[in-house]
Amino acid sequence: MKAVIPAAGFGTRFLPLTKAQPKEMLPVVNKPTIQWVVEEAVDAGITDIAIITGKHKQAIENHFRPTKKLEQALEKAGKLSELEEIRKVNNLANIEFIIQEEQKGLGHAILCAEDFVGDNPFAVLLGDTICTGNPNCTRGLVNMFKERNSSVFSVEHIKPEETTRYGIVSGKEVAEGVMLVEDLIEKPEPEEAPSLLGIQGRYVFTPELFEYQRKVRSGAGGEVQLTDAMRYLAKNDKIFSWRFDGKRYDIGTMKDWFQSHLELSIESEFSSVLEGVLKKL
Ligand code: UTP
Repeated sequence: MKAVIPAAGFGTRFLPLTKAQPKEMLPVVNKPTIQWVVEEAVDAGITDIAIITGKHKQAIENHFRPTKKLEQALEKAGKLSELEEIRKVNNLANIEFIIQEEQKGLGHAILCAEDFVGDNPFAVLLGDTICTGNPNCTRGLVNMFKERNSSVFSVEHIKPEETTRYGIVSGKEVAEGVMLVEDLIEKPEPEEAPSLLGIQGRYVFTPELFEYQRKVRSGAGGEVQLTDAMRYLAKNDKIFSWRFDGKRYDIGTMKDWFQSHLELSIESEFSSVLEGVLKKL
């Protein structure tokens, strides 16, 4: 199975921080967000990955590309652990970079990977979203995909006042935490939301998704919405939602970025720094 990581958006919710710096490159603890995402795919057994990026986001590609000069300089200076660290990043996976020429929405970004994916099932991991948990979210979805042989995506319980920030699902529960999806609605007002289960940003699709995505024209907010193609899948085929109980951080927002940094520090070498700060509160 291959994976597609859309990371070409403008990040308007996080301006001015994202004017020159891609949000996917914002560090969380000791590595950029996009590296957390690539590592999640690799941990799920997926090593052929396409990152959808934009001309304004060269830093993402640079992060994963070998840099001969830097490597030579580190070698010469005897900085071998640093050298090992950057080589590890270069060799994480087989990564292809695909440019989305215009930011026409998530659905359009995924369509850019159609040739890369071919006629195979594929995972999608939003490049600005970190998920933690054991098994990791993508691995859980890959397992569920094998079990159900149908498209599947993760959801989480949200608060009523949060519905306008999520795609919301409705359907029939077929197993603990698993729903056969009947409908999806993008960012509804709380009174129009059919449930409080919000789409999280991790998916495994059959290749039919592309067929439906091509049919979808601009939807909510003038963007080509992935949710609209998923709705077609639900109506004409089968798609399941799976409740993921791990933690999810939307790094496109200040709150989640800040929170991820703090919470993920707890298990890092920087936990004592965090402890010191908390004592001052
Ligand atoms: P978001 O809607 O969260 O990202 O898309 P955005 O458009 O960058 O953010 P705002 O709303 O303007 O703040 C989720 C993921 O899809 C990618 C984004 O980079 C992000 O990782 N995306 C979004 C694309 O690749 N292309 C697009 O046209 C839109």
